[in-house]
Amino acid sequence: MKNSSRRSARLITLATLGLALSACESEEPFPNFDELTRLNELHTMTRKPPADTTNRLADDVRAASLGHRLFDDPGLSSCGTVSCKSCHDGEGKTVKEPTALGCNGNRTGRNPPTTLNADYNRWFMWDGRADRLWNQAILPLTSPIEMDSNATVVRARLNAVASYAGEYQELFNKSPDATGDDELLANVGKLLQAYERTTNRTAAPFDEDVKRFIAAVDAGTEKDDPAYLGLKTYFRKGQCIVCHKGVTMADNLFHNIGVKDASAGAPGQVDATQKMLDWTFNAAGPYSDRRDGADALRLEAVRSDLVNKRFEFEGAYKTPTLRNIALTGPYMHTGELATLADVVEFYDKGGDPVGTFVGTKTVTIQELGLTDEEKASLVKLLESMTGAL
Ligand code: HEC
Ligand code: HEC
Repeated sequence: MKNSSRRSARLITLATLGLALSACESEEPFPNFDELTRLNELHTMTRKPPADTTNRLADDVRAASLGHRLFDDPGLSSCGTVSCKSCHDGEGKTVKEPTALGCNGNRTGRNPPTTLNADYNRWFMWDGRADRLWNQAILPLTSPIEMDSNATVVRARLNAVASYAGEYQELFNKSPDATGDDELLANVGKLLQAYERTTNRTAAPFDEDVKRFIAAVDAGTEKDDPAYLGLKTYFRKGQCIVCHKGVTMADNLFHNIGVKDASAGAPGQVDATQKMLDWTFNAAGPYSDRRDGADALRLEAVRSDLVNKRFEFEGAYKTPTLRNIALTGPYMHTGELATLADVVEFYDKGGDPVGTFVGTKTVTIQELGLTDEEKASLVKLLESMTGAL
């Protein structure tokens, strides 16, 4: 009651002050009505990721159990030494180096994102070249620099371990031998997804801080709250909330924030999207368990954006979740930033210099002029986002 009256009071104030506010923006109390709405959207993440009906086994516990063993098994790689876990391990389900080691001494071109909370994403990979978590898994499996595998190697491994073959038969009503090559890869991807959907870290001290802060706003004591400066900087001077919003603190979109990259993959999303749209494994394709056309429509919208707003795809990368960020360094798709303090410095200077990355920086990425206190408050805020298992 009190909260809503305060909210409507702020709404009226904002509406009546209108122009006057923009003239003395710094005077506007934090949070305003819109910011309070966005604060309310940040906390309390559900334990279970959104449903994925393109995999009928997505939430099947038997599939998750088999998926877990496959995730950890280097026998799925052609070299016999690299598993999913090799690059997605430890508390942060990633590696501590900027890039990771695959088969035959090859290094990945990019930093492995965490697989924690992965299925809250709408797109996968830094450049969005997979549209479902199950089809994403086919990419590292078959990549020559990661697991260098194929359906023959995977089928042989499923047959070599009696429990694998038996459980596979039960879940898919056919043996690995009776499954075609592409379908076999898709099925293994679906088992891996079922496992990954169970490896989430959600409730974090951050959620409690945001809830307490909102209560303090209601009581009119927000300026005394320990989270005040961090949240205010996240929303105002830092503009972080523009892209890192909602419970995952990610907008499910792609932006060019000017991360230096001279590699062949530097164009990012612009090169990846066409391949994803034409891919036999995408969610609109023959291996999806949902065939109602919804995925085809969704991908058509992306296809038309790629034609009409191509420049927005150039040098753009997926906004990563900030949940568990303290566990997943180094940062950015290149892994160029070692610490969260480095990330804050990166944003404070407005990204890397023009000419060191492909395309044009998004408008919000510019010099921020943060004070030392504001920088420290942002780092503290980011550190509070680590969730419990
Ligand atoms: C050799 C290291 C390596 C191996 C092995 C590996 N990955 Fe990855 N993983 C990466 C890298 C690097 C990326 C980012 C690639 C990119 O975006 O271009 C990634 C991305 C991902 C993502 C995307 C997360 C997101 O938020 O977009 C998921 C999920 C994932 N891997 C799961 C797996 C699974 C499942 C396997 C096993 C089948 C696997 N990985 C094997 C290095 C590896
Ligand atoms: C215009 C959208 C946008 C804004 C504004 C923005 N970010 Fe990001 N953020 C991104 C994108 C996109 C990436 C990944 C970029 C890349 O790797 O090329 C990213 C990466 C990060 C990472 C590294 C994540 C990881 O897993 O490596 C952190 C931490 C981060 N941002 C925090 C912040 C903070 C703090 C602010 C405010 C000071 C902020 N961001 C503002 C879009 C944004």
